[in-house]
Amino acid sequence: MIVLGGSEGAHIGFELSKYLRARYYDIEVKEFPDGELYVRIPVDVGGLDVVYVNSLAKRPNDLLVETVLSLETIADLGARTIYSVLTYIPYARQDSRFNPGEAVSALVIAKLLKSLRVDRIYTFDLHLHRFRDPRQVFGDNFVNLTAVRDLVKYISTYHKLDDCVIVGPDEESEQWAKIASEELGGVPYTVMEKKRISASEVVVEPRNPDIVRGRAAIVVDDIISTGGTIVETVRVLRNLGVREVYVAVTHAILAGRAYNRLVQLELQDLVASDTVLSPISRVRTAPILARSISTSASS
Ligand code: R5P
Repeated sequence: MIVLGGSEGAHIGFELSKYLRARYYDIEVKEFPDGELYVRIPVDVGGLDVVYVNSLAKRPNDLLVETVLSLETIADLGARTIYSVLTYIPYARQDSRFNPGEAVSALVIAKLLKSLRVDRIYTFDLHLHRFRDPRQVFGDNFVNLTAVRDLVKYISTYHKLDDCVIVGPDEESEQWAKIASEELGGVPYTVMEKKRISASEVVVEPRNPDIVRGRAAIVVDDIISTGGTIVETVRVLRNLGVREVYVAVTHAILAGRAYNRLVQLELQDLVASDTVLSPISRVRTAPILARSISTSASS
């Protein structure tokens, strides 16, 4: 087995290769003067089991093309098995035609990834709203892992959490709120009602305000993009009288000035996984991936 890292995959790919006792190589990626990409697989993959690792955040369009070129080339060159680890899959939030004529991007991208000659696709906490089981759109070879257990484990290891409550900022975050609550031995959880006003602004309203008052709130979500959701959720929680606030998210995209907005909140802690590399990525996903890939490889 070997591990190949795409241009945003080296930080996880290298660590993963240690767990899998495999060699790690960076895929060669360059940009031509006209903006097209050049991709070269630097090693003979014929007959090998190949783990491809990339994170398709920040420059989603280039990274999608890079991924398609890389995976198809790995297949062309005769790899025996291809495990594709895409720690963050973009476009998942546009999962419906909200206005006439819009592309349902989530379905188009799922169709594209499903068409590639790979044996398994792994990701983390895919944004799922209208499709609760991603295998409905990505097929049976899709593995949706979660970083939420490790995120709340991290918070409970480094902080003394007396009388806490898990808070999801919107309806779809209930799946992660439940996991976090389980991980902390069944502490209560609640979710907010969220309405999006613009790309960076939302309003949230609590479903059951009494449950948070006086408690330490751990807000869990899949993505921080502009930070609008977290900023508004923290504001509402503080108005409701929470004692302290921790935030844990899987994918810290931190678009534009999101990080500055979040720092100003003076949270007790703000932590993300490394599915997207950021200043708050303190929880590593390589061990979770290694367990899952080893299980598939030995079955
Ligand atoms: C949306 O429903 C997601 O779960 C996140 O809450 C959202 O993507 C966060 O985006 P932002 O940080 O821009 O509010």
